[in-house]
Amino acid sequence: MENIKAIIFDAYGTLFDVNSAAEKCKDKIGDKWEGFSNYWRTTQLEYTWLRSLMNRHKDFWQVTEDSLDKSMKAFKIDPLMKSELLDLYKILSVFPEVPDVLKKLKDKNYKLGILSNGTPALLNELVKSNNLKNIFDNIFSIEEVGIYKPDSKVYDMPIKKYKIQKDEVAFLSANTWDVSGGGNYGYSSIWVNRNNNIFDNLDYKPKAEVKNLKQLLEII
Ligand code: LAC
Repeated sequence: MENIKAIIFDAYGTLFDVNSAAEKCKDKIGDKWEGFSNYWRTTQLEYTWLRSLMNRHKDFWQVTEDSLDKSMKAFKIDPLMKSELLDLYKILSVFPEVPDVLKKLKDKNYKLGILSNGTPALLNELVKSNNLKNIFDNIFSIEEVGIYKPDSKVYDMPIKKYKIQKDEVAFLSANTWDVSGGGNYGYSSIWVNRNNNIFDNLDYKPKAEVKNLKQLLEII
């Protein structure tokens, strides 16, 4: 990890808690909130992969809404909750250790970026609502290349911008397939394994595994 020049973070699930929207409604949704939230997330990601393969792009906000519609039907959630859930998804909570770690990394002179499926508007709103403005050098959205992760055009963006080697990027994601996507592309990928998950069999072994971003400070 000595050669790292840029630290690039995935957004959803890595910096921001995708379950926080449904969790904030758990009094109304009841015990099924977590199963519903996981189903929503899985469907949302499936739609990104399928749309890329079908060459029928819709932006991440539309995909989020489409996958919410299916998930609400699957879990018999009151349709009146839709706008509340979508509004909360725009201001997902940041994981607790993230702001402090980012500020410490900022002092170390790395390029800091977000690389995400989210639209620029969604990502800017998340950064703003969680008081993370002035931290990131760049927010890279897949909207610039019009195809979702793990297409290599997505992972190309920071390399082209910073004119650095692929392995000079430390890429952090909690999404195992995204760790593999970035790693197979050539990044030094680090897996943020917050929930003791099992890694994928997709031809890549992470350069490091951390439980949360605090541990990143020990290896970088
Ligand atoms: C993102 C999804 C993969 O932020 O979490 O790109």
